[in-house]
Amino acid sequence: MRAVLTALTDELKRLKATGVRTVSVSEANLAALRGVVQRRAAGAGASRKIAAMPDPLPSPPPVISTKEAVRPLPAASSLPPPPVVALAAGDKRTRWTALRERVLGDAVCRAHVRPGKQVVFGVGDIEAKIFFCGEAPGAEEEQQGEPFVGPAGQLLNKMIQGMGLRREDVYIGNIMNWRPEMPTAFGNRPPNAEEMAYCLPFLRAQIEVVDPALIVALGATAARGLLGTDTFKSLGEIRGHWKQFAGKPVMVTYHPSYLLHNDTRRAKRAVWEDLLQVMERAGLPISEKQRGYYL
Ligand code: URA
Repeated sequence: MRAVLTALTDELKRLKATGVRTVSVSEANLAALRGVVQRRAAGAGASRKIAAMPDPLPSPPPVISTKEAVRPLPAASSLPPPPVVALAAGDKRTRWTALRERVLGDAVCRAHVRPGKQVVFGVGDIEAKIFFCGEAPGAEEEQQGEPFVGPAGQLLNKMIQGMGLRREDVYIGNIMNWRPEMPTAFGNRPPNAEEMAYCLPFLRAQIEVVDPALIVALGATAARGLLGTDTFKSLGEIRGHWKQFAGKPVMVTYHPSYLLHNDTRRAKRAVWEDLLQVMERAGLPISEKQRGYYL
C-alpha cells in the first residue's frame, strides 16, 4: 500500500512540476484511494498515537474553468517508428475487418496493454457520415476493448442521441489504441507525442476505410493528434471551427469528460453549437427544439 501511495504522490508531484494544476479522479478511483488510506491508517494500529490523518485526496472542488485545459505532454517513451499500414483488398467490410485484426495483433500495441486488458479499436457503422475521435482508452475501455464505454462514453451517447442518432449510427475511434501507462493503477494521462505518432496510422487507415463526411475531434488531445501538437495553445482558439485532416473536415469540440467536470449550461451550449454545425454539414434534419437546447 505504501508503494502505491508513494508512486501516486510522486506522479502528482511530477504533474505539478510540469504545470498541471488539476487532475481528474473518478468517484470509483477516489473511493478506492480512500480505502487504501483507511486500511493503511487502521494497519498503523493503536500502538502509535497519531493525530487524525488528513485525507490526502479530499473531494476535488469542481473545476469552474470554462476552458478545457491543454495538459502538457509527458516525456517520450522510445517506441519504434510508426507502422506503415497497407489496407487489404476487398470490399469495405473486408478491409475494415483486416485492419481491425492488424491493430489488435500489433506487437507494440499488445506490449503496452496491461495483463488481462485489451487493445482498443474503433467501433460503429463503417458507412457512418460522422466519425467521432477521442483521446485514448481509459480503464473501462481497456477492460471491454471498446472506445467510450465509461462515464465519458455515456455522455457521448447522450450527445449522439441529442443529434437524433444512435451510437450504432456513427463511428467512434481514438487517437490511441492502448491506455497510456501510469505508474499507478489509478487515473489516466494524455498520450505523449511519440505514442500518438505511433497509433496515428491506425486512425488514418480507419478514416480511409470508413470514409466519413466529417470528423469530430473530442478534446485537446484528439485535436493535437489530428492537427499537430503545436497547432494551438488553448482549445478555445480552435473549438467550434472547421479544420482539415486527411482531406476530411474536422470539427473540434470539448471532450465529454470536460463536460462531466464542468456541468454548466454554458459549456453544454458551446458543445451543442459545435454539434449543430456538424449536423448541418452532415445534412441531418434539425428541429427548432434541437436548435434551442441549452439556451
Ligand atoms: N476518453 C477517450 O478519449 N476515449 C475513450 O475511449 C474513453 C474516454
